[in-house]
Amino acid sequence: MTRGHFHARRDRAEFYYTQAGQGILLLQFRDREVMSVAMAPGVCAFIAPDWAHRSVNVGPAPLVFLWFAALTLGRNRGAVPADGWGVRVVQQDGMPVLISRTSGR
Ligand SMILES: [Fe+2]
Repeated sequence: MTRGHFHARRDRAEFYYTQAGQGILLLQFRDREVMSVAMAPGVCAFIAPDWAHRSVNVGPAPLVFLWFAALTLGRNRGAVPADGWGVRVVQQDGMPVLISRTSGR
């Protein structure tokens, strides 16, 4: 799992293109709205401007992906501390499940 980050340039988007493995791309807006995208080979995910993002490997093999973005986007990891995400990814019955950190599910 990556720590996750916002971009210092709040108007910059990014793409994640998964090459191998299975993962979940977590996206969190500044109001803590959360979205997720299943990462699998061939999936290209759009990360809209001003959404924090982190990737979680949920498979047995390495998760391999490319990212595409303007080099001027900058990163602001301090804006998304490790305990600042609204959901956690856990494994239940062999499947990845998103658990809200505020409601318990
Ligand atoms: Fe990024």
